[in-house]
Amino acid sequence: MKTIIEPFKIKSVEPIKFTTPEERESILLEAGYNPFLIRAEDVLIDLLTDSGTSAMSAKQWSGIMDGDESYAGARSFFRFEKVAKEITGFRHIIPTHQGRAAERILFGILGGKGKYFPNNTHFDTTRANVEFSGGQALDFLTAVGKDTSAIADFKGNMDIEALERFIAEKGRENIPLIMITVTNNAGGGQPVSMENIRQTKEVASRYGIPLSLDACRFAENAFFIKKREKGYQNKTAKEIAQEMFSYADGCTMSAKKDAFVNMGGFLALNDEKLAMIARNMLVVTEGFPTYGGLAGRDLEAMAQGLEEILDENYLTYRIRSIEYLGEKLTEVGVPILQPPGGHAIYLDAKRFIPHIPPHQFPGQAIVCELYKVGGIRSVEIGSVMFGKTDKISGKFNSSAMELVRLAIPRRVYTQSHIDYVIEVVSEVYRNRSHLRGYQIIFEAPLLRHFTARFEPIV
Ligand code: F0G
Repeated sequence: MKTIIEPFKIKSVEPIKFTTPEERESILLEAGYNPFLIRAEDVLIDLLTDSGTSAMSAKQWSGIMDGDESYAGARSFFRFEKVAKEITGFRHIIPTHQGRAAERILFGILGGKGKYFPNNTHFDTTRANVEFSGGQALDFLTAVGKDTSAIADFKGNMDIEALERFIAEKGRENIPLIMITVTNNAGGGQPVSMENIRQTKEVASRYGIPLSLDACRFAENAFFIKKREKGYQNKTAKEIAQEMFSYADGCTMSAKKDAFVNMGGFLALNDEKLAMIARNMLVVTEGFPTYGGLAGRDLEAMAQGLEEILDENYLTYRIRSIEYLGEKLTEVGVPILQPPGGHAIYLDAKRFIPHIPPHQFPGQAIVCELYKVGGIRSVEIGSVMFGKTDKISGKFNSSAMELVRLAIPRRVYTQSHIDYVIEVVSEVYRNRSHLRGYQIIFEAPLLRHFTARFEPIV
């Protein structure tokens, strides 16, 4: 078989800035050892996120020029609505400026004190929005999904039995919604099987609870189903995506991932009454229902992106390029969350540097070192993001996993960029015994990882 190549050619480029290790050392110190606080122009390869960082296509850029900027009833809205309805099948498509705005509206309506929201794994903004409403966000990932070294096809799957036990215990009246995140970002970008979505829907229906997809990476999930699940080999990614959505009653979507846009998202619902309340809330904080928080040009780019993402040449390249990075790191012994996910490789910090305990943030230590050694920006997904210190007992509750995510922006970096990343990670791994832990010297009450400041422990 021949090399799977980038299924595009490059028309427009942007230079990246080279810095010296000494410069990076002082940049890091100034940023409180938090990569979110580094200026992007001081980063050589930016793997902080795959969100809003995609390269748009020539057709998307021409859509930007062609966008209809009318306040109400813009042509670009109707094009976007048509594409989103075609893929998701949902009756009401409500544009928002990004995924979390859709979440805020949804949980603003359904959330509140005493309400429980089960998910395979909530992403940080989903969890924050549930908690901000006064509700509780709970994860029901299968045991294999929590084992970073186990190789399995669908490690994003929901633990159906645990979910059902939970519903029986808490009562369906306290569970306004069940969610499934595809792919499971916080758990390694791992896919959820069609069978698992179907079974979750069966349980939800039995108790009369609606099911919603966190659909940010729906196309990547659909492609994994095509590759791994029996009976889907001959279906198109689009048909598979349509079937995934058919089991749900709505979705929240950050179009900054699987719609190749720099800004955009939507909330989709089947329920008429809920959609009406959501649109009312939308007008208060986002905008009129035919633009949400977006410009007409954004809607145009989103419509085009939703069509392009389901191209199987693209998806073949996308999934293979992440797998390539995972394979090469595994070959040199770097412990990663196995198997490679859809949008990122997650280094397993617990196995990478077992000498640094969770309360000294091993993931953060690796993140800082990758920047120092190679100018690579990554992100900790571990106890900085999810760990909590109990206010009463003072006990530190660490995250279940200590990960460092190398998220790959869509259509942005070539194979030689990725080869460079492999060299840098390998070097950091070879010298891992020198790494030290970190302590937090400043943190905000919510989503602390964005603004926290750290100090190395000497
Ligand atoms: N759900 C999931 C699974 C996500 O990964 C994200 C964003 C959101 C919801 C929120 O969407 O950013 O448009 O408001 N994830 C980004 C990331 C930030 O880096 O993984 P948003």
